[in-house]
Amino acid sequence: MSDLSNTPRISIHPVGAGDEAAVADVIRAAFGQEAEVRLVHNLRHCGALVLELLARTDDGRVAGHVAFSRVTGAGAGHRLQISCLAPVSVHPDLQRTGIGSALIRSGLEDLRKLGEDLVLVLGPPAYYPRFGFDAELAKKVQAPYAGAAFMALALSDAGNRDLPVEVSFASPFEEFE
Ligand SMILES: CC(C)(COP(=O)(O)OP(=O)(O)OC[C@H]1O[C@@H](n2cnc3c(N)ncnc32)[C@H](O)[C@@H]1OP(=O)(O)O)[C@@H](O)C(=O)NCCC(=O)NCCS
Repeated sequence: MSDLSNTPRISIHPVGAGDEAAVADVIRAAFGQEAEVRLVHNLRHCGALVLELLARTDDGRVAGHVAFSRVTGAGAGHRLQISCLAPVSVHPDLQRTGIGSALIRSGLEDLRKLGEDLVLVLGPPAYYPRFGFDAELAKKVQAPYAGAAFMALALSDAGNRDLPVEVSFASPFEEFE
C-alpha cells in the first residue's frame, strides 16, 4: 500500500455530461497533447466506455481522470468480460501525490462489482504491477501488443482460468497514435 499521507483531499466520481470540458483539460495538461483527449472523446461517443471516473479536489477542481473501455474476446476466453485501462491522467501540479493510484484502485473495485473478469493495460512496468497487473498473465492474451509493458489483471476466477483469449480493442485505438 503506498503512503498517501501527502495526498490532497480528493473524492472520486463517475464522469457526468457536464464534466467533459474539465476532463478534456486535465487529460490535455497531463499528456501535453490532443491525442489522448480525442481518444477519450471517441471512446465515449462510440459507446465503448465501460467506466469513466474523475478525481475532484475539495475546491471542486478536476485533478485526474481514468477511462476503462470494452475489449472483445475470441477463442477459449470468448465469454470473458474484458476491459482496458487507458488513459489515466493526473494534472501535472498534482502528480505523484497518490491521485492516479486512487483512481485506478477505485476503478478496479467498481469493475469487479460490475462483473468484469479481466483488465488489460499498456504502460510503464514500474507503475502498474502495484495494482496487481502482471505481464506473465498477459502472455495468455493475444493482442496487437506484447512485451513487459502489456499487463493483465484477473478480477474473477474465470479471468485467470478461461485463457488464452484473443482480443480486439475498441476502434478509436486503431486511429490513436
Ligand atoms: C502516470 C500518472 C497517471 C500517475 O498518477 P500519479 O497520481 O502521478 O501517481 P501516484 O501518485 O498514484 O503514484 C506515484 C508513483 O507512481 C510512479 N509513477 C508515476 N508515473 C510513472 C511513470 N510514467 N512511469 C513509472 N512510474 C510512474 C511514481 O514514480 C511513484 O512511484 P513510487 O510510489 O514508487 O514513488 C500521472 O503521473 C500522469 O498523469 N502522467 C502523465 C500521463 C501518463 O503518462 N499517463 C499514463 C499513461 S499509461
